[in-house]
Amino acid sequence: EWTMTKFVDTEIERIRKLVGPTGQVIGAVSGGVDSTVAAKLMHEAIGDRFHAILVDNGVMRLNECQIVHKTLTEGLGINLKIVDASEQFLSRLKGVENPEKKRKIIGNTFIEIFEAEAEKLVKETGVEMNFLLQGTLYPDVIESISFKGPSATIKTHHNVGGLLEDMKLKLIEPLRELFKDEVRALGTNLGIPEDLVWRHPFPGPGIAIRILGEVTPEQVAIARQADHIFIEEIKAAGLYRQISQAYAALLPCKAVGVMGDLRVYDQIIALRAVKTTDFMTADWFDFDGKFLRRVSTRIVNEVRGVCRVLYDVTQKPPGTIEFQ
Ligand code: XMP
Repeated sequence: EWTMTKFVDTEIERIRKLVGPTGQVIGAVSGGVDSTVAAKLMHEAIGDRFHAILVDNGVMRLNECQIVHKTLTEGLGINLKIVDASEQFLSRLKGVENPEKKRKIIGNTFIEIFEAEAEKLVKETGVEMNFLLQGTLYPDVIESISFKGPSATIKTHHNVGGLLEDMKLKLIEPLRELFKDEVRALGTNLGIPEDLVWRHPFPGPGIAIRILGEVTPEQVAIARQADHIFIEEIKAAGLYRQISQAYAALLPCKAVGVMGDLRVYDQIIALRAVKTTDFMTADWFDFDGKFLRRVSTRIVNEVRGVCRVLYDVTQKPPGTIEFQ
């Protein structure tokens, strides 16, 4: 009979055998469910011989880096290094509006920084890395779907050379036989906080593809605050688990509004919340009017530079989950 506890035990044994008594493993974490569960499993198996790296790309959610750092190090005991590369990412994103260009810049910069950090780690600690951890799930194995997180980016890149070849890193993929719901069950079994286990997916290019115009530090700040209010209200209303993915997007155009006695000309926030099982089709979430009113009032009152809030009622297809 298959149980999660048995799976954990056999998987930890398998990892220990594979890595050997002195082997070292490196891997990127994002704060998402898959990479966190994979990292925790590695930590249980080989302790600090697993080295996690979190690259702050400057387009993560509000306070996300600090929260992930606290949860993974203090909470889960994972040997984690945070690299603040936000300035590098943001300077390369300057003037870029095209979504595919944003994705390319973020993907390439991520690989560059991850490689540089891996090399630094090897120099500083004198340990040689033997394996690269990937949070690959079963659905990614059977078909490469449109879900490309940092791990997928590393993989495609490293299949054609780079770090994997130079350092002779072998891939280690402890989640490759699991579906998403099994990863969540595994996460709970490993003592990962419920908040993190049930986290909505977040795209690798982050808020950059939710700012529909140029990504500047000011636009990031606005998008972050609006998104934070929306998610906070969703959680307060007890709706977070019923929704598959939700976020606020910042439109690159302005609208007229009145604030007090003044006419203002400010930007527009679009809210998106969907229900889906496979992310290939999705339906918009049917909030009640009171909820939307509360969120829109808070965003307009609390986020400077925004004077209007819209709710996206487009199904997928034809609308994708992201705007870009
Ligand atoms: P779409 O917008 O295609 O999104 O309906 C489907 C799912 O994929 C996520 N997504 C991405 N994830 N890098 C990622 O890591 C990306 O470039 C990317 N684009 C979309 C999206 O958030 C949704 O969960």
